[in-house]
Amino acid sequence: MPCKEKSAVSSAKPTILVTGGAGYIGSHAVLALKDAGYEVLVLDNLVYGHRDLLETVLKVEFVVGDTTDRPLLDRLFQTHDIAAVMHFAAYIFVGESVTDPAKYYHNNVVGTLTLLEAMRSASVDKFVFSSTCATYGIPQFMPLTEDHPQTPINPYGYSKLFVEQMLSDFDTAYGLKSVRFRYFNAAGADPQGRLGEDHDPETHLVPLVLQAALGTRESIAIFGTDYDTPDGTCVRDYIHVCDLAQAHVLGLEYLLKGGRSQTFNLGNGNGFSVKEVIEVAREVTGREIPVKLGERRSGDTPVLVGSSAKAREILGWQPQYAELHDIVAHAWQWHQKRHGFR
Ligand SMILES: NC(=O)c1ccc[n+]([C@@H]2O[C@H](COP(=O)([O-])OP(=O)(O)OC[C@H]3O[C@@H](n4cnc5c(N)ncnc54)[C@H](O)[C@@H]3O)[C@@H](O)[C@H]2O)c1
Repeated sequence: MPCKEKSAVSSAKPTILVTGGAGYIGSHAVLALKDAGYEVLVLDNLVYGHRDLLETVLKVEFVVGDTTDRPLLDRLFQTHDIAAVMHFAAYIFVGESVTDPAKYYHNNVVGTLTLLEAMRSASVDKFVFSSTCATYGIPQFMPLTEDHPQTPINPYGYSKLFVEQMLSDFDTAYGLKSVRFRYFNAAGADPQGRLGEDHDPETHLVPLVLQAALGTRESIAIFGTDYDTPDGTCVRDYIHVCDLAQAHVLGLEYLLKGGRSQTFNLGNGNGFSVKEVIEVAREVTGREIPVKLGERRSGDTPVLVGSSAKAREILGWQPQYAELHDIVAHAWQWHQKRHGFR
């Protein structure tokens, strides 16, 4: 095991390496970790992350670099007293993963393997991983529980499933303990308006609807209005990003206390339709939201809702913002601040 030069300042709580900490969910997790008293070191290549949020809001130590850069990772583990890794860094665009799978397997799988190997050689054995409900594929029953078969329908979903398998094998062979969180649809923003979702390109429904409300997007497209759902539009499980962040702190603490490897769904448990999201956004913003009706998209399932009973039971996780109104209102506050009120 390489000798580590400990950080100059010794802290009560250990240092957590957060990859992808300049991104949407990672930045909220950094804030939650700081609030819980942890030292945080962020590694982000800033391909999609936001330097300004690291510098002005999060104010944590960060390194601009890539998870595929093994010498850099070795250096980070040698120069910091890292107790665990939270791994958010990944490419996230499902459509792009179909047209350019190599990009996704390289970044999401090879990048994670490189990180796990660096952890192994530094004897860091606790890992919290951002997986996804996209590993389930077409639902066979609802709500989805963690034991639902995993048959992804795109390379993005496979890239996450392969990492889940690696984590299971690394535990068996090397004793690496991991918590794998399968998120449903992350949405919302820091209630104080400090952080929020700012993807480019944006593919998620809540920010797209709010862009239409702000006037930075002409309209919002509804793909399919004839699904077998109460109003004919697709139903999804929206989970507030701060509730996700809180679950990560709990997952980390579970591992730090010696918990065994586990997989948890993180969802709201309530499904909301596309039309409901748009209606709530009209209420919250008080604005017109022009809608365009389109055809169904292939690969969209009518309903996708998860059960998070296991995370509640084992981690004691209790989502604070289960109401769609809160999720949209927090996102709206952030969007106005970030993109300007018009
Ligand atoms: N947003 C969702 O609804 C959702 C749902 C399920 C799972 N997830 C997973 O959660 C994680 C975070 O998602 P997000 O929405 O915050 O995405 P994001 O794009 O906002 O954040 C990802 C961050 O990782 C960085 N990054 C990407 N590859 C990297 C690499 N190789 N090395 C260093 N940095 C790298 C990007 O610059 C970005 O800052 C991802 O792993 C994603 O697959 C997200």
